[in-house]
Amino acid sequence: MVEHIPVMINEVVEHLKQIPVPRVIVDATLGLGGYAESILTQFPDVLLIGVDRDEQALSMARDRLAAFGDRVHYYLVPFSRLVSVLEKEKVTPDGVVFDLGVSNLQLSLPERGFSFQQDGPLDMRMESSKEVEGLRASDVVNTFSEKDLADIFWKYGEERYSRRIASGIVRYRKENGQISTTAQLVEAIRASLPAPVQRKMGGHPARKVFQALRIFVNNELVELEEGLQAAIEKVADKGVIIVVSYHSLEDRIVKYAMRDWKNEGKGIILTRHPLIPTEKEIEENYKARSAKFRAFMREVDMEEDS
Ligand SMILES: C[S@@+](CC[C@H](N)C(=O)[O-])C[C@H]1O[C@@H](n2cnc3c(N)ncnc32)[C@H](O)[C@@H]1O
Repeated sequence: MVEHIPVMINEVVEHLKQIPVPRVIVDATLGLGGYAESILTQFPDVLLIGVDRDEQALSMARDRLAAFGDRVHYYLVPFSRLVSVLEKEKVTPDGVVFDLGVSNLQLSLPERGFSFQQDGPLDMRMESSKEVEGLRASDVVNTFSEKDLADIFWKYGEERYSRRIASGIVRYRKENGQISTTAQLVEAIRASLPAPVQRKMGGHPARKVFQALRIFVNNELVELEEGLQAAIEKVADKGVIIVVSYHSLEDRIVKYAMRDWKNEGKGIILTRHPLIPTEKEIEENYKARSAKFRAFMREVDMEEDS
């Protein structure tokens, strides 16, 4: 049984309590239903709209949340399609919550190809359904040019050895043929970096390249921009938008989106600085260590006044 310990859930609930009368909450990243379970328990009158692009996650969340019956509506879509979900539901949400990135389910199943610690096919598509044909990480590492690979590792992984690694991957391809597993990619990355460089990197030498490929394959940053846009467009007056992010590229997008909303008179930032997990939470859940929590309250009056 895969477990995913919800990150900063107390902060999520506390901020949702600032909504005067919460009726409809969107969980845009349902995952294994950890946030959803707490929200449905803490707010007994709420209808929760649960969105995830991963069929496997959605089906596990459905089992977990079965006891809440028709208080949960499930949607297998990327959150960039939130506007159409809300139009179909004919509701105005009072809260929209994003808990970004991958879940433990995706990370811990080697066959999903997200993990540099376990061998599996080099896939990384968040859509787990076999019917969905999308670019896989293996397509990228096997067919993209050295320059394009270096750009991806730099832009989405902030990997300072991006060029060296890209050139190592192209060399590996020539010598060994296709790179089709996560272990082969790790081997190619290790072979491209001298041991002293690997020691200096702090953390696993493949970590940033895996992050970069995952973001690229799933178009995560564009998804985030479009999801935030949908949320601010649709959320009710005095409604709250919450985002928990896990790396600086995501956090930057959230920070600037909320700053723009504030400058456009759309409401107020509830977290002047991002909140981070307590030491106790990090001790209990190491995966929480990089989390940053930001929240925004929509204020329709402010826009009318400005
Ligand atoms: C960190 S997990 C969420 C965990 C959840 N809060 C919990 O407590 O169980 C992130 C989830 O968001 C989903 N996800 C990531 N990007 C998405 C997107 N653009 N659209 C829809 N779902 C997305 C992933 O498939 C994953 O299941």
